[in-house]
Amino acid sequence: MEAILASSHHKVKALGVSNFSTHNLSKLLETAKIVPAVNQVELHPFLQQEKLAEFCKEKGIQLVAHSPLGSPDSTLLTESSIVKIGKKQGKSAAQCLISWGIQKGWAVLPKSVSS
Ligand SMILES: NC(=O)c1ccc[n+]([C@@H]2O[C@H](COP(=O)([O-])OP(=O)(O)OC[C@H]3O[C@@H](n4cnc5c(N)ncnc54)[C@H](OP(=O)(O)O)[C@@H]3O)[C@@H](O)[C@H]2O)c1
Repeated sequence: MEAILASSHHKVKALGVSNFSTHNLSKLLETAKIVPAVNQVELHPFLQQEKLAEFCKEKGIQLVAHSPLGSPDSTLLTESSIVKIGKKQGKSAAQCLISWGIQKGWAVLPKSVSS
């Protein structure tokens, strides 16, 4: 991938990884010449991955939150504490979850096929 970045005549602008743990990132960084720009992992209030978030911040790797609404089968969107915060703020549970992730400093990638 590093060779592609170097030879792509600016078509490839950055390299990122997905679902890398601190262990796998540490192993990668032992030999990588280019630090990944992003690490896309599952992040939401039920899975906060604080150790990984701290590690990525320290290394300058932007975390990207996939499944920030908990993915299609999750109970996160109906979790009473989140629904309660939403009602208080006049926002939906989905809006609260997206806002929460952004405030954590993550890039947030929700997905909808129906709205
Ligand atoms: N790198 C990886 O390994 C990995 C793994 C999983 C996912 N991803 C990526 O992460 C992104 C999101 O993943 P995801 O779809 O699993 O999880 P998600 O975005 O957390 O959840 C999607 C669910 O939330 C619902 N939803 C979306 N907007 C809503 C809204 N405003 N109000 C209420 N419900 C809402 C969707 O229903 P409707 O569709 O009916 O709106 C769907 O059931 C995708 O782009 C996916 O490709 C990456």
